[in-house]
This record gives sequence, structure tokens and C-alpha cells, in this order.
Amino acid sequence: MERLKYILIVAVCMLFLGAAAAKAEDGDAKKGETLYNMRCLVCHGKKGDGNGAAGVLRKEELSGRVLEIRPRDFTLGLFRFRTTASGCLPSDDDLLNTITNGFPRSFMTNLKSLPVEERKALRAYIKTFSSRFAEDPPCEPIKAVKPKWVGTDDSVKKGQVVYKNMKCWECHGETGKGDGPKSNDIKDDWGFPILPFNFLTGELKRGSTPEAIYLTFTTGLDGTGMPSYEDSLNEESRWNLVSYTMKLMGKLDKKEAH
Ligand code: HEC
Ligand code: HEC
Repeated sequence: MERLKYILIVAVCMLFLGAAAAKAEDGDAKKGETLYNMRCLVCHGKKGDGNGAAGVLRKEELSGRVLEIRPRDFTLGLFRFRTTASGCLPSDDDLLNTITNGFPRSFMTNLKSLPVEERKALRAYIKTFSSRFAEDPPCEPIKAVKPKWVGTDDSVKKGQVVYKNMKCWECHGETGKGDGPKSNDIKDDWGFPILPFNFLTGELKRGSTPEAIYLTFTTGLDGTGMPSYEDSLNEESRWNLVSYTMKLMGKLDKKEAH
């Protein structure tokens, strides 16, 4: 009997320790709240609805148009930069990447120097703003494995055809300046006007690696009107599109010059 009691106590202790370890791994939301109030509240707001004191941020694009940038409203649980399929929640790693790297063109600075536990704590707190994180089943991340031929002239040419056929130009413009015929009428899911990416800036929010660009077409950018091409384009066509968009951004020219 004594022995059974002992085993039970040990088992319960192990459970607690396990839970504590899991919590540290997932991030501590309470600690995250303090950090959020210090570092994020000014833009994303007390309730995580994007209505912080900073208000709407403005930036002039190369095209001369002014981009109105709104900090994300976390309450709908819609995220742009995911490795998961369209409509899915981002993975924990996706959110950590966003918090770590921030966004160019959106005034959100990177937090690479912040200890990883603090970045995880921030992530845990961000997840409390939308009930989707408690309700939705997690989605499998999509892997982007770059074929060797990405960036070759042949692939760029094929990608140009895909860009034309899939009507990327309707939003992004024929030369990639973000000035296509539909570009003035796009609204995000919150009802605010949004401009398509101007490839000539070369400053991708998700990051400029071929894999990041591939994920953008594959997962779509939820909440922005930019669709997912996972079902309508095979993998090869999507990688050709990566080659063409890198060309539009001048990234291949730089490589050749080296
Ligand atoms: C200067 C304002 C500003 C600050 C401060 C800021 N953000 Fe943001 N954040 C933005 C803007 C603007 C966006 C929308 C970016 C876009 O899609 O253009 C955004 C988007 C996001 C997203 C959504 C990413 C996605 O995939 O849709 C997350 C997550 C996020 N911020 C987390 C944070 C966290 C955590 C902090 C604090 C450590 C923080 N932000 C601080 C402005 C800010
Ligand atoms: C209905 C309009 C629309 C269509 C069609 C469209 N996009 Fe987009 N795209 C957008 C918008 C809007 C954004 C800007 C989102 C943002 O800044 O957060 C965007 C952003 C992007 C980005 C930048 C992502 C980043 O990390 O900053 C890339 C790359 C991109 N689109 C490629 C494409 C390609 C290639 C196609 C065709 C296969 C395409 N888009 C079709 C509207 C569209």
C-alpha cells in the first residue's frame, strides 16, 4: 500500500514537471502579456484588435502611391505569413518567425536580440486574442524544397507565361510594379484598401528567399485578396513563378553580376 502511494506521488510529480516543461516550450502567456504591453501594444492595441495609439501608418511606395498600413487585428485569427494551407492558422514556428524577423515595409522591427523564451512568451500571448487557436485543429506545414533549376533562363521564361496565364498582372501589373487594373479596388478582410506588392521594391514581407516566395503563392495571403495557387498550379509551375518573380525583383541580375 505504502509503495503504491509512493508510486502515485512520483507519477503526479512527473506529470506536473512535464506540464511545466511543455509550458516553457510553448511560452508563458503571462510573461508575454507584460512584454506585449511594452513592445506591441502601441500598434496592435490593448485588445489585440490593431487599434493601438500609433494608428494607421503611412508609407510612400515607389509607384508614388501611399500605402496605408494597419497593424494586424489578431481577433479574427487571420494571418498572412504561414507555411500552412489557405484558411489555416499559422504554425507556432510561423508566428515565432514573424515575431523574430518583423516586417520590412510595415514598421514592425525584428526582435532577433530578444531571448527566445521571451519571443515564445509573446507568441503565447498573441494566441489568446482569437478563440481560433483553442478551437481549430492544427494544419500540417507545407515544405518548400527548391529544385536546382530555379533561377535559370529557361525557368524564368516559363514563369513569365504562368504569371500571364494566372493573371498575377491583374493585381501586380505587367512589369510587376503593383499597378495592375485591379490594384486600386482591392480591400482586405477588414474592409480597408490594400495595394498589391510592387516587385521592384524587392522588399518582401515574408523574406526574400526563393522558399519564402514559393510559400506565398502556395499558401496565399489570408485576409488580403491574394489567393492560394496550391490547387490551380502544380509545384513545377510554382517554382518557375519563383524564378520569374526573382527576375522582376532584380535578384537574378545581382547574382549574375557577382
Ligand atoms: C510599429 C508598429 C508595430 C509594432 C510595434 C508591432 N507590430 Fe506587429 N504588425 C504591424 C503591422 C503594420 C502589421 C501588418 C503587417 C502587414 O501585413 O503589412 C503587423 C503584423 C503582425 C503579425 C501578423 C503576421 C501575419 O502573418 O499576418 C504578428 C503576429 C505581429 N504583428 C506580432 C507583433 C508582436 C508580437 C509585436 C511586439 C513584439 C508587434 N507585432 C509589434 C505593426 C507593428
Ligand atoms: C487579387 C489580387 C492579387 C492577385 C491575383 C495576386 N496577388 Fe500577389 N498580392 C496581392 C496583394 C494585395 C499583396 C500584398 C499583401 C501584403 O502586402 O501584405 C500581394 C503580395 C504578393 C507577394 C509579396 C509577399 C510578401 O512577402 O511581401 C508576392 C510574392 C505575390 N503577391 C505574388 C503573386 C503572384 C506570383 C501572383 C499570381 C500567381 C499573385 N501574387 C496574384 C494581390 C494579388
